[in-house]
Amino acid sequence: MKILHIDSSILGENSVSRQLSQAIVQQLTAKNSNAQVDYLDLAQQPIPHLTAEILMGQDAEQAALGEKIIQQYIDADVVVVGAAMYNFGLTSTLKAWIDRISVAGKTFKYTEQGPVGLAGEKKAYIASSRGGVYGDNSPADFQEDFLKTIFNFTGVNDVEIIRAEGVSMSEFKDQAVANAMQKIQAI
Ligand SMILES: Cc1cc2nc3c(=O)[nH]c(=O)nc-3n(C[C@H](O)[C@H](O)[C@H](O)COP(=O)(O)O)c2cc1C
Repeated sequence: MKILHIDSSILGENSVSRQLSQAIVQQLTAKNSNAQVDYLDLAQQPIPHLTAEILMGQDAEQAALGEKIIQQYIDADVVVVGAAMYNFGLTSTLKAWIDRISVAGKTFKYTEQGPVGLAGEKKAYIASSRGGVYGDNSPADFQEDFLKTIFNFTGVNDVEIIRAEGVSMSEFKDQAVANAMQKIQAI
């Protein structure tokens, strides 16, 4: 089993999404001794933003990097993404990864019946952390919904959200993290 583990919070050891994503990966690897983990720390090693040169295939180094991360995404059986909410959305570094893996002909294609995802059968876990409390269907949620849409669009329909929210409020944080950890234990 190949696991692709992605973090992008800027808060290092104080990050809730990193804590959750790491616990999910630990849980998965404890149950699968053959698991192989690829790790992307997008805060430490950001993937350059898409540029016109990259889009047009005029930057050989970036084209090679793009191929590599697309293949890494396609090859993964499980994707675990630590997703911190920043300004109601995702971190810009995670968005930069999304812009590089969402490529027509690679991870999706358009057909007469509409778009079809090509990223293969896999499961995705979104380890979501957010300072406020939004619940499931908030119009201000451009974080979980956006990431789930990208997974679905690229053909990944089995998406599980493990969420700790209200973590910027001291009265909520510990319980929110404990609840998320309990869900992770049940994976
Ligand atoms: C730059 C920045 C922007 C944030 N924007 C929001 C926001 O729009 N809504 C919210 O509920 N929390 C917001 N927060 C709080 C984070 O979502 C919260 O701290 C969360 O735990 C971040 O994940 P992390 O702990 O993995 O870094 C923001 C935090 C930072 C640092």
